[in-house]
Amino acid sequence: MCPGPPGGGTDLFAGFAYLSHVPSTRISAFGIGGAVGMAVTLLSQIVGQDNGPASTDRAFIYDNVKVVVETKVMRSSMGEETRKRAVVTGAASGIGNAVARRLLDDGCEVLAVDIDDGGMAELAAEGCTTRTVDVADIDQRRELAEAVDGFDYLVNSAGIIRISPIFEVTVDEWRQVQTVNAESVFFLCQLIGPRLRPGGAIVNLSSSSAKLSTSTDVAAYAASKTTILSITRSFSYALADRPVRVNAICPGIVDTEMQARFLENVAIHKNTTAAEFDALRKKSVPLHRGASPEECAGLITFLLSDEAAYMTGQAINFTGGLVNW
Ligand SMILES: NC(=O)c1ccc[n+]([C@@H]2O[C@H](COP(=O)([O-])OP(=O)(O)OC[C@H]3O[C@@H](n4cnc5c(N)ncnc54)[C@H](O)[C@@H]3O)[C@@H](O)[C@H]2O)c1
Repeated sequence: MCPGPPGGGTDLFAGFAYLSHVPSTRISAFGIGGAVGMAVTLLSQIVGQDNGPASTDRAFIYDNVKVVVETKVMRSSMGEETRKRAVVTGAASGIGNAVARRLLDDGCEVLAVDIDDGGMAELAAEGCTTRTVDVADIDQRRELAEAVDGFDYLVNSAGIIRISPIFEVTVDEWRQVQTVNAESVFFLCQLIGPRLRPGGAIVNLSSSSAKLSTSTDVAAYAASKTTILSITRSFSYALADRPVRVNAICPGIVDTEMQARFLENVAIHKNTTAAEFDALRKKSVPLHRGASPEECAGLITFLLSDEAAYMTGQAINFTGGLVNW
């Protein structure tokens, strides 16, 4: 999706993933790295040049499913020669972390942002610039916006979840969740959106809980994620003339730290184990599994890319078929 390093010409990298079911017994025999290397080599031959950071980690096994992420090369319609620049919030963990790595891998310059600076050390070692920011803090949001003037992409992945029976949710808890999850997204779109370069894009992390109530113990969280859908639609209109596109995704189960904490907490309330509750939930998913953060990053980078140039204001389900409206 991103142009290669300086001197790499005007090609943009675009990533996409496909899945194939393989028996686990064949996994070790299957030359994953080799297969990906071949695909990348072939593409390099097609465009007749070295396109920079060809990846070696574009295939992985997830829940007994082989996920292959190919690097596709396409021409930039704008003939740009500079590398794309992206800012990713919540980059210390889970989906934000996978997005930062994926963008870096695709040749972008990435500013990784999180309240947890310790969690970003590995990203820094891999080439991301990192910045400790509490997205709930008004001044820190403003300073961040100034630092990313002229960037191309914003991914709002920072988020928190609080689990409380709906009749016990306190005002403090409600405000904390809305501030981190919804207020930050609104004001980062407001502050950073107009500073993004024409052709830029924003992806906001909503949730399947914005559309579907499977539990009343996450009512404040679900409300914040529903708000993100409205914020996304409003800014897609407000930034359309620039043009900067704004889309949201609604993941169901993505196996991250947040998901693990959620399972542990709910299991206690339901008098079961996290593993049992996890298995029970995944049974209700038509594809019978959760997603990896890397798969989720694939959808996000697609929405950022020029391949999604006609998409804005959308809320894309990422639920293994659980939600289909
Ligand atoms: N994992 C899932 O199944 C799932 C499902 C639907 C939606 N989501 C959404 O995706 C996003 C990423 O979730 P995840 O699963 O990767 O969670 P995660 O807990 O693994 O990562 C979230 C990151 O946000 C950071 N963060 C929290 N508060 C912050 C603040 N005030 N300022 C800056 N950073 C802050 C955390 O430090 C953490 O690194 C969240 O918005 C979440 O609501 C996740």
